[in-house]
Amino acid sequence: MTASGTKPRKLFIKTYGCQMNVYDSERMAEALGGAGYVTTDRAEDADMILLNTCHIREKAAEKVYSELGRLKPLKAANPDLRIGIAGCVAQAEGEEILRRAPVVDLVVGPQTYHRLPALEAAVRAGQRPVDTEFPEEDKFDHLPRTPRTRRAPTAFLTVQEGCDKFCAFCVVPYTRGAEISRPVDRLMAEARDLVERGVREITLLGQNVNAYHGAGPDGRDWSLARLIRAMAGIDGLERIRYTTSHPNDMDDDLIAAHADTPKLMPYLHLPVQSGSDRILKAMNRKHRAEDYLRLIERLRAARPDLLLSGDFIVGFPGETDADFEDTMNLVRAVGYGQAYSFKYSARPGTPAAERAGVAPEVMDARLQRLQALLAEQQRQQQEAMVGREVDVLFEKPGRMAGQMVGKSDHLHAVHVADHRARVGAVMRVRITQSATHSLSGELV
Ligand code: SAH
Ligand code: SF4
Ligand code: F3S
Repeated sequence: MTASGTKPRKLFIKTYGCQMNVYDSERMAEALGGAGYVTTDRAEDADMILLNTCHIREKAAEKVYSELGRLKPLKAANPDLRIGIAGCVAQAEGEEILRRAPVVDLVVGPQTYHRLPALEAAVRAGQRPVDTEFPEEDKFDHLPRTPRTRRAPTAFLTVQEGCDKFCAFCVVPYTRGAEISRPVDRLMAEARDLVERGVREITLLGQNVNAYHGAGPDGRDWSLARLIRAMAGIDGLERIRYTTSHPNDMDDDLIAAHADTPKLMPYLHLPVQSGSDRILKAMNRKHRAEDYLRLIERLRAARPDLLLSGDFIVGFPGETDADFEDTMNLVRAVGYGQAYSFKYSARPGTPAAERAGVAPEVMDARLQRLQALLAEQQRQQQEAMVGREVDVLFEKPGRMAGQMVGKSDHLHAVHVADHRARVGAVMRVRITQSATHSLSGELV
């Protein structure tokens, strides 16, 4: 029973897509918490189900409709169940979702989820509201303060949102809107609050996080490097990461921060998409392969043990065998510790969607070769950790009894079987073994 005497309703949120959706899902739970909802991790128990969706590739977007198919029987069993679509598919498709999926009661875009309590009330009044505005007001100013519950040792914090880059293949500038940066004092307050609740590692999020230029307390715009250095001053915060960066926004000061800020972890996700200058130009990435390689050199000069991660697209319209070999050569030149690679997916409304595509079997073959190379690099970089001592932030018990799992500075998952390992502690571990997706070791 809540204070007002009504039984709390239950909310189930399923999250797709990127880390920003993970952050947004927490904010949505808080917004609806103010309207009497508590979260559940069982869809069967829910009075409200929200799917926080991703539109980045066709497969991701189509998942929404297959999930709605699976939810149909739940709605048949419980006519009071409400189903909402949030996130980037909601933004991209809006009303169309209501037409295509009669089980859906509400549609809310990524910039208006602070209005969820009002939308939920409209649903209970028998409407099927759609809110995909890009409002004047800032959603971050409208969300209720979080109840001061204990948190897991790692957390995301959105500092920048939206994108003005308009890469020719990408929906994000349309689904998330123009770039905005949150003010420094708000971010510092949110970071301190997280740390007081047990968080030891914060990952600063943005679709173009290194384009961050938020209003500082001194009346000037602060860069991401400046924000990171300020956050590093928070006692109890042990680690800072940021993602995702664009190569063109990697300024000198941010590179310097990798050298002078020990709390900034030696891991960087820096997508390049292709190693061919012709394709980079067609993608509107606005830099050459050579520029990226020089940038990596400067980053490694600042932080020699930096582990690099990237994103790649194969089969972008017009990609020839020679273009693809340029990508393979760039990967060989960089040496990635981690990477994501995708087949190009034509997205409605993007410039590249109009262009003639590469044959599917050619894309398949290229993706296989690229993934084999990336997997081999990842394996080698993991193997190289064996025998070394690393710092591990323990996050949760492992699958085997007595085991704990955490992440190293380089974001490798590390297993340790030792009762002294505690969740939330950073401890020194000697790596003894490398498996496919994780390392294991012993406390030093
Ligand atoms: N803001 C980030 C990326 C966001 S999307 C950046 O600029 O790097 C995450 C990744 O999805 C991209 O880096 C890209 O590799 C991939 N991606 C985006 N649109 C895609 C499309 N239409 N087809 C295939 N992959 C795509
Ligand atoms: Fe998409 Fe390019 Fe913006 Fe990244 S920089 S979100 S790939 S448009
Ligand atoms: Fe997907 Fe939207 Fe993130 S399209 S990758 S959920 S910004």
